[in-house]
Amino acid sequence: MSTLEIRSLSKRFGKLQAVHSLDLTVQPGNIYGILGPNGSGKTTTLGMILGVIRPDTGTYQWFGQPESHLARRRIGVLLETPNFYPYLSAEKNLQVVASIKGCGTSRIEAVLKQVGLYERRKTPFRTYSLGMRQRLALAAALLPDPEVLVLDEPTNGLDPQGIADVRQIIQQTGQQGKTIILASHILDEVEKICTQVAIMKRGQLLASGDISQVLQAENRILVASDNLNALRQALTGRPGIETVRTQGALLELVISGTPDPAALNRMLLDQGIVLSHLQVQRKGLEETFLELVAEDVKTA
Ligand SMILES: Nc1ncnc2c1ncn2[C@@H]1O[C@H](COP(=O)(O)OP(=O)(O)OP(=O)(O)O)[C@@H](O)[C@H]1O
Ligand SMILES: [Mg+2]
Repeated sequence: MSTLEIRSLSKRFGKLQAVHSLDLTVQPGNIYGILGPNGSGKTTTLGMILGVIRPDTGTYQWFGQPESHLARRRIGVLLETPNFYPYLSAEKNLQVVASIKGCGTSRIEAVLKQVGLYERRKTPFRTYSLGMRQRLALAAALLPDPEVLVLDEPTNGLDPQGIADVRQIIQQTGQQGKTIILASHILDEVEKICTQVAIMKRGQLLASGDISQVLQAENRILVASDNLNALRQALTGRPGIETVRTQGALLELVISGTPDPAALNRMLLDQGIVLSHLQVQRKGLEETFLELVAEDVKTA
């Protein structure tokens, strides 16, 4: 049974189609990233699946059931840094959270330790740094021991140490078997934390699936020789060479795995082909992502 299933979910704000017929499935135990540039509809999507924003059309199901109060209690949420009482300590604030959520205080110590605030549990919230505030927000979300954690840009505004801390808490929570749905505009964050990803742009889904499949680094080698036809023949169908494309006076080879220009050169020399040009182009995830979001979205 899927943790979350979204079918043709749409939301329009006036003339703006914020989310356009979105389909998504999140399986249990995954850290699922919703990745997209600013304004691509991530927060709107989270708002809809949490019952805060009413969809125009479409449906969603948590744990195989239509949205209900019961399902909502199984989901911990961090949408924006919540307000805590400034003069109360972390511990006291979590007691307030426990009484609001009706979940008991027995896990307060455990969650404070989990987010690394246990030592500072007695200090008033107003003295907390931004990173500490965010960690307390995570503690509050984790307090009822939810099966699922929904996080919207959890590292926004934090310094590098704060970012690393929050990411580590998320990863550890994932390792405990919880399902995590995380919206982020930061490729690096999604790549480092998530197991699955959905890429959104202008309210539409561009791609989704295992992170290693969706955001594949792709390496290319550009080659040329006097006789391009002979060169093409020698390269076509070779193991490790996925595609051979003509690019002006060059051939572009899409390589699976790590490019080995020396081996390629040797193999061609053995066949009497001398290269006049040999250039390795590594394409990182960043480039793959930027290309993906730069492509024009076809409107259905
Ligand atoms: N209440 C609203 N009224 C009007 N337009 C809205 C409203 N909420 C969102 N939008 C618009 O919908 C689009 C999607 O916004 P959304 O906040 O979902 O994007 P996002 O992917 O979360 O962006 P970011 O990375 O900046 O958080 C944006 O163009 C935004 O301006
Ligand atoms: Mg957002």
